Amino acid sequence: MNGNQTLTMIKPVAVERNYVGSIIQKITDSGFKICAIKMTQLTKDQAGVFYAVHKDKPFYEDLTTFMSSGTIVAMILEKENAVDDFRKLIGATDPVDAEEGTIRKLYAESKSHNAVHGSDSDENAQIESDFFFSKIERY
Ligand code: CMP
Repeated sequence: MNGNQTLTMIKPVAVERNYVGSIIQKITDSGFKICAIKMTQLTKDQAGVFYAVHKDKPFYEDLTTFMSSGTIVAMILEKENAVDDFRKLIGATDPVDAEEGTIRKLYAESKSHNAVHGSDSDENAQIESDFFFSKIERY
């Protein structure tokens, strides 16, 4: 990965509430190209692997239970400076702290049910993209 890509998931509650279309529209309106997209449901073990970096955190059990509780939409997004620009677009982890107009301000319920995930580094963007997508699923 070249630093111009990031990985996002639209989380179960946002899918359940039918926010997928609105969230994708906001992402593409902000200049991101969708290179890969997949609707799926993670097992609890898969959610545990994806969020392994948080395995010692007190919220890990709730996080992996929530993230395996329903359908998600995973995407690889491309844009110059993708990781940082996408984190600006989604806003702070807790929607209470997120700026007006950000995806989490608009669509998140709470810090744990915060509508979308975004990679926090180029290295993790690559690891997370490889978790979901093979080479022939990327465009
Ligand atoms: P995400 O960007 O998917 O990365 C890790 C997730 O853990 C984060 O969004 C939040 O949904 C969740 N998270 C982070 N901190 C907390 C916390 N203190 N309590 C509950 N969930 C948290």
